[in-house]
Amino acid sequence: MQTAGSIGVFDSGYGGLTVLKEIVKKLPQYNYIYLGDNARSPYGNRSFETVHQYTKECVEWFFNQGCHLVILACNTASAKALRTIQQNYLPIHHPNKRVLGVIRPTTEVIGNFTKSNHIGVLATTGTVQSNSYPIEINKFFPNVIVHQQACPMWVPLIENNEHNKKGADFFVKEYIDAMDKQNPNIDTVLLACTHYPLLLNKIKEYTPIGTKIITQGEIVANSLKDYLQRHQEIEALCSKRFERDFYTTDSTDDFDKHATVFYGETIASKLARV
Ligand code: DGL
Repeated sequence: MQTAGSIGVFDSGYGGLTVLKEIVKKLPQYNYIYLGDNARSPYGNRSFETVHQYTKECVEWFFNQGCHLVILACNTASAKALRTIQQNYLPIHHPNKRVLGVIRPTTEVIGNFTKSNHIGVLATTGTVQSNSYPIEINKFFPNVIVHQQACPMWVPLIENNEHNKKGADFFVKEYIDAMDKQNPNIDTVLLACTHYPLLLNKIKEYTPIGTKIITQGEIVANSLKDYLQRHQEIEALCSKRFERDFYTTDSTDDFDKHATVFYGETIASKLARV
């Protein structure tokens, strides 16, 4: 008989908190453990091998905390590490545990938002290079044309709390203009990085009027709800005491200061030794 555990939610840093916030709104009854690998973030410009290794270590950490289900609330980790973890690592080391990502739930629905069949995907360099979004979107929506734009300066701006300042406008405009140049018919823009909702107001300012801007939090929350309904064996292993625990691999003081902006509530984090 296995003991129930919290649902793990992982990000390289703070971004996954924008996803956790929506998950908690939809499914408040479960216990959640959040881990931000702040000491090693950003992941967005690191190699496949490095992102895979870091993500695997963090997943192992969640399992040691008693989690049976872990959500990679990070597009870069989902793009570069999830498949290998699901296909090669879990079957050998943890056949009864589950790790899910944010790309599949997003690509299942994103095509429903566009009328022009041109979607812009704003993401980290790593996510863009992996080509995961065009490949996965076209499985569900073969007529949709995906235009990817890497935005390497956005995560550093957000992680350094510079995203609301005037200087951020330069890089927001720069990448939005570059995306628009790829195709003027883009009518739907996906923020395919869990940090980017923090830049939403500025992104709206520079995208053509009428463009739909899609964030992932609610999409991932709906998909998790559906997953737990379909997988009762996993659902039964998720503790339901409305508890939340927050961990970071770096300074807890820094985490607590920054995290409120992403999560919308005060947080008291603990140090994780991954
Ligand atoms: N939040 C992560 C994502 O969704 C990226 C942050 C990073 O570069 O570490 O891709």
